[in-house]
Amino acid sequence: MLFVRWLDEKYSVNIGDIDEQHKGLIGIINEVYRAKVENQSRKTIAGILEKMADYTKTHFRAEEELMAEHGFSELEPHRKAHRFFVAKVVEFNRDFSINDDSIIESILEFLKEWLLTHIMEMDKRYMPYLNEKGIR
Ligand SMILES: [Fe+2]
Ligand SMILES: [Fe+2]
Repeated sequence: MLFVRWLDEKYSVNIGDIDEQHKGLIGIINEVYRAKVENQSRKTIAGILEKMADYTKTHFRAEEELMAEHGFSELEPHRKAHRFFVAKVVEFNRDFSINDDSIIESILEFLKEWLLTHIMEMDKRYMPYLNEKGIR
């Protein structure tokens, strides 16, 4: 039962660690989905959303360090996009704690859309640059 499916040919940035982290994020989104479908407790769902916030920060830090280390020129707009998403995830966690469960649907839609679009449009921009530098 998957809400988001990883597709190598579509989402891979050809850098092993980063692909694994992206798969991890997709995995957590699927966990939220599964918890919702299985009518898990609010506490369980809140815990998974918390994990999403933590892992997102870890992943963004890794990506930003990689771009900085190799002098990728588009680091700043990329960092801004990351900051926006982190703020959004924190906001969702707060919204979820004060609203009824129906909000989880829109949270899931947003997480999926933002993450996949970000990987395809922004993360893929550093791909040729870093791959060229031997980062795989
Ligand atoms: Fe990114
Ligand atoms: Fe990323």
